[in-house]
Amino acid sequence: MTTPGTVPAAPVPEGVTPALDVRNIVKRFGGVTALNHVSMTVLPGEVTALVGDNGAGKSTLVRCLSGVHQPDEGEILVDGKLQTFHDPSASRHAGIETVFQELALSDNLDVASNMFLGRELTHGPTRLFRLRHKEMETEAQTVLARYGIRMPSVRSTVRELSGGQRQGVAIARAVGWGSRIVLMDEPTAALGVRETGRILDIVRGLAERGLAVLLISHNMEQVHSVSDAVWILRGGNMVAGMRTADTTTSEIVHYITTGQGLT
Ligand SMILES: Nc1ncnc2c1ncn2[C@@H]1O[C@H](COP(=O)(O)OP(=O)(O)O)[C@@H](O)[C@H]1O
Ligand SMILES: [Mg+2]
Repeated sequence: MTTPGTVPAAPVPEGVTPALDVRNIVKRFGGVTALNHVSMTVLPGEVTALVGDNGAGKSTLVRCLSGVHQPDEGEILVDGKLQTFHDPSASRHAGIETVFQELALSDNLDVASNMFLGRELTHGPTRLFRLRHKEMETEAQTVLARYGIRMPSVRSTVRELSGGQRQGVAIARAVGWGSRIVLMDEPTAALGVRETGRILDIVRGLAERGLAVLLISHNMEQVHSVSDAVWILRGGNMVAGMRTADTTTSEIVHYITTGQGLT
């Protein structure tokens, strides 16, 4: 078990309130402890990477933050305020949006419709139904332009889009509604080099606009180039959190595989 304070943790600068402050989260599935007293901070205006091997607990932590799972123990603070998420809409209400591994897009609908999909949960069905499609298209275009997300057209059917463009739609849907915290579970896992580069540019752009981004990734070079801080899970334990500038790709890999830093 990890005792708080015994592992390196990325410092929070004085006067900065973390967008997300996770304290001692425990999540068990039957006999499996997926998260064992896990703590982590995510600062506003930064990309925070969350890394670890398969089964380390990354997706479970994201699901606790997005209200899909309820932790057995521990606390989640959003902008310094203690929150309990009984369901995903509670997490959204607190300003957290999640781009899940399985993007949950509707293949038969166009880009604009997908960006409005599911909004009735947080904004009420009447608002959605009152919006005519033309207005949805205009608003969708505005959001895409704001974050530099390129699409053939907001009228393109999502089925016709490339993997990177589909990821772009999912990100636009997540950030287009004033959320301040975005969680992304392996957004580039299925993408080629060029599309990966585009998505990473978008991710950096979100942070530059002041959002707090939590990025799960398997790609250490990607983590090193895009993140401001990196947190490392191993077998359900948070083994380190560091400023990216203070570490190296090989040290991160060493933490992932052994739980220890380089000496
Ligand atoms: N819904 C679930 N039911 C049972 N066990 C689960 C469930 N979700 C995750 N686990 C287990 O929790 C551990 C962490 O899984 P996960 O969070 O998916 O890891 P990662 O995303 O880092 O690959 C694994 O041992 C996994 O089998
Ligand atoms: Mg996962």
